[in-house]
Amino acid sequence: MNALLHTEICDLLGIQYPIFLGGMVYVSYAPLVAAVSNAGGLGVLAGGSFQTKDELKEEIEKTRAMTSRPFGLNVPLIYPLAQDMIDAARESRLPVVITSAGSSAKFTAMLHDAGIKVGHVVPSAKLAMKADKAGVDFIVTEGIEAGGHDSPLGITTMVLIPQAVDAVHVPVIAAGGIADHRGFVAARALGAQGIQMGTRFVAAAEAPVHQAFKQAIVDAGDDATVLTGMSIGRPVRVIRNKLADQVLELEKKGISEMEILSFIGPGRSKAASIDGDVETGSVMSGEIAGLISSIKGVREIIREIVEGSQKLIKEMNA
Ligand SMILES: Cc1cc2nc3c(=O)[nH]c(=O)nc-3n(C[C@H](O)[C@H](O)[C@H](O)COP(=O)(O)O)c2cc1C
Repeated sequence: MNALLHTEICDLLGIQYPIFLGGMVYVSYAPLVAAVSNAGGLGVLAGGSFQTKDELKEEIEKTRAMTSRPFGLNVPLIYPLAQDMIDAARESRLPVVITSAGSSAKFTAMLHDAGIKVGHVVPSAKLAMKADKAGVDFIVTEGIEAGGHDSPLGITTMVLIPQAVDAVHVPVIAAGGIADHRGFVAARALGAQGIQMGTRFVAAAEAPVHQAFKQAIVDAGDDATVLTGMSIGRPVRVIRNKLADQVLELEKKGISEMEILSFIGPGRSKAASIDGDVETGSVMSGEIAGLISSIKGVREIIREIVEGSQKLIKEMNA
């Protein structure tokens, strides 16, 4: 067995490659989730996209009809519906749940009782230790390079992975700023047992999002994203556009958290993702968008990482 591509997390979750799809609100729906699982990775549904438990359960069934491989569910713990999402995972007997944006302590035991493996997303080694103590099965470290909601701590992937790996006893999966085989090998070299990608998979053929959203990622350079919401301690990494400029301007004026949140509104990321409004929508994307120059099928994205990593290691050993 190839130690580079087959790690402990593969056996834990019954997957072929240690490559996860990030649970992305308004992106990680059944077609993309199933495509990643079918290609040997772990597809992860975004619980944040659903308004009711039944809607989510329907999407779980839809995904099951598209793949017989394991897939998981992301539960952002700040969502009012978090408990419903946990219940849906239990009732639907999902094999794995990845919690984020909150304390892992609340639901881990409950999920374990239902036979569900639990991962938790953290932005620092300290929080990784806390999740480890809460009994999670694995940790996803997410650096500030990542698309979407980030931590005000601002720790980068390069710095975060080895410190988290040294701090915990469970496998660490690296997220934030990874989109190809070089990122995969780098993450493995730093001690991660696998990777989670968001931005790369938004620009995948199977992602059920508006073409304009995918194209915005393809067109983006390495300096295309900005962190909005820093002034209120709730950073969100987006591609700079009219909305981002307006938010940054309001932040300069020091307006309150409530005002900023009501200005952005929950519909802004849906507007970008589903309606293709890349000017006044919230175009969540990571800094690694600059490396992504075309829309590719999920199978090709994963194959290139697998084959590219093996080739790279061979070259390094030559
Ligand atoms: C459009 C978008 C939506 C996201 N939504 C969520 C979410 O609902 N829950 C979550 O835990 N992470 C979310 N993320 C973060 C991803 O799951 C993943 O960890 C991150 O994108 C990895 O960094 P990368 O973008 O550099 O690949 C989102 C990211 C993007 C780009």
